[in-house]
Order: sequence, then C-alpha cells, then structure tokens
Amino acid sequence: MFLTFEGIDGSGKSTQARLLAEHLRREGHEVILTREPGGSDGAEEIRNLVLQGDPDRWSAETEILLFTAARRDHLERTIEPALAAGKVVICDRFADSTRMYQGLSRGDLRGLVDQLHNLMIGREPDLTLLIDMDPGTGLSRAKGRQGAEERFEDFGLDLQQQMRAGFLALAQEFSDRFRVVDGNRNMDSVAQDVTKVVMMALR
Ligand SMILES: Nc1ncnc2c1ncn2[C@@H]1O[C@H](COP(=O)(O)OP(=O)(O)O)[C@@H](O)[C@H]1O
Ligand SMILES: [Mg+2]
Repeated sequence: MFLTFEGIDGSGKSTQARLLAEHLRREGHEVILTREPGGSDGAEEIRNLVLQGDPDRWSAETEILLFTAARRDHLERTIEPALAAGKVVICDRFADSTRMYQGLSRGDLRGLVDQLHNLMIGREPDLTLLIDMDPGTGLSRAKGRQGAEERFEDFGLDLQQQMRAGFLALAQEFSDRFRVVDGNRNMDSVAQDVTKVVMMALR
C-alpha cells in the first residue's frame, strides 16, 4: 500500500507521517517512511537544488522538470522496490504537491504538470491523507522552524489560503483516494483519525 500525506506548510504532515509509521510498525507491518522532494540519493541531491538558494533560481518550467526528475528517481529506487517487497510506503508529499505548488502558484502550469506526470510517473498513491489546517496557524507553526530550505518559505498568508483551497479542490477531484483529516487539533487526536482512515483502507 502506497500512502501519501499532503497539506499546506506547517499542517503536520511530517509529524503525522512519522506517528503513522510508528503505529504500523507496532502492528507488525514493514514500513518505508520517505519524503518528497527526495527519498533516494539522487532525489535528495535534487532536493537541495529546488529548496535552497535564490527564489528566482529556476524558471517555473525548469522547476517542474526538476521535481519530476526527482520523483522518477524516488519511484524507481525507493517506492517501487518497497511496494514490490510487500512493504507499506508512507510518503510525506508526492505529486499532488507539484500539482498545487508548481501547477498553480507559479503560473497556470497544471496542464504541463499533468502531462509530465503521465509521461514519467504514471502512478498515484492508493490513499492520500490531506491534513486540512487553518492557514494562519499553519504559517506560524512553519515559521517556528529554521533551516536552509527556505526557497518557498516567504509565501505569506494569502498564498497559504489559496493553497489550502487548492488542496481541498484536489481532494474533490481525486475523491476516490483522498481523505481529509482536520489538523486543527492536538497531535494525538489527529493521529487517531489518521490511523482509523488507514486501518479501514488496509483491510
Ligand atoms: N497537532 C499539532 N498541534 C500543535 N503543533 C503541531 C501539531 N502537529 C505538528 N505540530 C508542530 O508544528 C510544526 C510543523 O509540523 P510539521 O509536521 O513539520 O508540518 P509539515 O510537515 O506539514 O510542514 C512542528 O514544529 C510540529 O512539531
Ligand atoms: Mg514537513
């Protein structure tokens, strides 16, 4: 089973992905916890190229190519081998994040994102958990983190609001695999909902 977490910055994706991995391991599943961009050696190198440095470092089109190249490597080297070995793969962000961030926020390039996805990736998760979150709270949580990966981080509240709406629209578009979880609660309550949704799907 291939599970992904999506949602705006600071919504709790990384936290919930880790808690879910711990839970499923306790239940006896073999779990690979991975993330995008990154998740394989080559893709982690591309991660540094896309998340660090000058915000104008890449054109929107080049950026989409880099994200797609990273995803292809991640899929070939990490995700597909793990799934073939019967493991549960939990991925912190996947193609839906590219549909959102590169498809919308940097010009209307969703068509290009979809074409490249069909050509080079051609695979969707079995289940996608959208952690839905108040944009202001998400932003202040995200700002509490400091680091070098700040190319996309001066987005501001307006864009966070648009991104939240965009993720909810994706959840409608792909309603067969998306489940929306309310992230405006303490970690354990959110984790309980996540576990419920995943246990239903694993059956
Ligand atoms: N339910 C929650 N309540 C309060 N703080 C949280 C909650 N979930 C995560 N956090 C904290 O908020 C910050 C962002 O969470 P994180 O999981 O990194 O979000 P994301 O990966 O979606 O950007 C972290 O410091 C994390 O510890
Ligand atoms: Mg994260």
